Amino acid sequence: MFNEEMYLKNKDKFQDMCKKVKEDPLLQSFHIYPQAGWLNDPNGLCYFNGKYHIYFQYSPLDEKKSDVLWGHVSSPDFINYKREDPFIFPDTRLDYDGAYSGSAFVKDNKINFFYTGNVKHKGDFDYIRQGREHNTIKIISDGYNFDEKKLILSNDDYPSDMTKHVRDPKIYQKDGTYYMFLGARSVEDKGLVLVFKSTDLENFTYHMRIESQSKFGYMWECPDFFSIDDRDFLILCPQGLESEEYKYQNIYQAGYFTIKIDLLSKKYELANFEELDYGFDFYAPQSFEDSKGRRILIGWMGMPDANYTNPSVAYKWQHCLTIPRQLTVIDGKIYQNPIKELEKLRKEKLQILPTNHYDELVFEAIAEDISEDFSIHLRKDVSLKYEKGILELAMGKSSAGRTRRKVKVEKINSLRIYSDRSSIEIFINKGEYVLSTRVYSQEADFYSENLEFSLYRLNSFSFIE
Ligand code: FRU
Repeated sequence: MFNEEMYLKNKDKFQDMCKKVKEDPLLQSFHIYPQAGWLNDPNGLCYFNGKYHIYFQYSPLDEKKSDVLWGHVSSPDFINYKREDPFIFPDTRLDYDGAYSGSAFVKDNKINFFYTGNVKHKGDFDYIRQGREHNTIKIISDGYNFDEKKLILSNDDYPSDMTKHVRDPKIYQKDGTYYMFLGARSVEDKGLVLVFKSTDLENFTYHMRIESQSKFGYMWECPDFFSIDDRDFLILCPQGLESEEYKYQNIYQAGYFTIKIDLLSKKYELANFEELDYGFDFYAPQSFEDSKGRRILIGWMGMPDANYTNPSVAYKWQHCLTIPRQLTVIDGKIYQNPIKELEKLRKEKLQILPTNHYDELVFEAIAEDISEDFSIHLRKDVSLKYEKGILELAMGKSSAGRTRRKVKVEKINSLRIYSDRSSIEIFINKGEYVLSTRVYSQEADFYSENLEFSLYRLNSFSFIE
């Protein structure tokens, strides 16, 4: 339980934490990070009344995760941001132990938010099969205020072969029907998605489930369903996959199934699962469609339960969001590219010739027409090498436990690298593959033995706090 009163009472502590955050030499400059404390999943992404609203899982008084609430930033243009007051506090019987992840659906000039109220009963429980409530809650809002938290679904409404892990609602509308997708873990420990349907966005009944034929992890978190160019995609975060040499290298994954589905007849077919990101820090992405019709995706640049860490905890903050990416589809595959707005951050352009060194941490670098293997230094002990169809990101001691990630890529012809003070996002072949990672070397040293880069120095986001 964490209510607004408790937050306001601790304002001094919070302000002290905020001061400490500002002292971090590796504080991000063009990423959304918590003003102080802990951040995880992006939530409730939407465009409403001329502003983008970005909410996120947030523990403002603790740099480790505690009872999470929804933090909030708004922006008219993805460059200028305003930190808004916390949005949903876990302050009722329905969400006592955390206002967990959820999404937004704009209708009739109001935002309908759906999220999971996490409740843990006191006692000797495993909190998987017993002792937990995952309540699906709806609030209607202008993005800032709301009157009521309405219980839409609770444990009893989920199919009886589910564990108590059913969460992270996302709405999809088709032909006058609203479908709610929820991530779930069955009593057989199989990850799947439950679909509920409604005609009024309030009364939802169980419709169907979507699952892989053979087990693909024990839990699917944070589902997202959408269409691009008449193709349907189901993003989700499976937990419990075995690592392979070039796949599933993180403890949990984030990726998508291309899905052929007829929601009316409940027939569907899932194609192969594709990972959305091959770096160390990417999880729980969420997408939304903006007023220009773009499908924009933002991820959490973090990883739950990882064995690597974030030295930023010494400065009272932890984690950030990825830069927003626009999703497009080429040959049936999702491509992800930084949204166009980020080009407004560019300052002067430099040409970095092979073996030339660039010694600042913050930049955007682009290499095109690549036709050979390459080796790039991103920081003093962080490198990216492409050899015989394998791309390898190797991180040294400064990376707080992050080691190596490898991806099979048949051919690389372009690279676009966004480097902030403590993160690197690498877009390969104009968004065909992406690697995102936090990085903690303070020693800037960017160069390549054999590639030439166009490099832009970058401005910071402006943040009204
Ligand atoms: C994913 C997740 C969600 C949950 C939220 C709680 O990172 O575990 O499934 O709603 O985080 O913070």
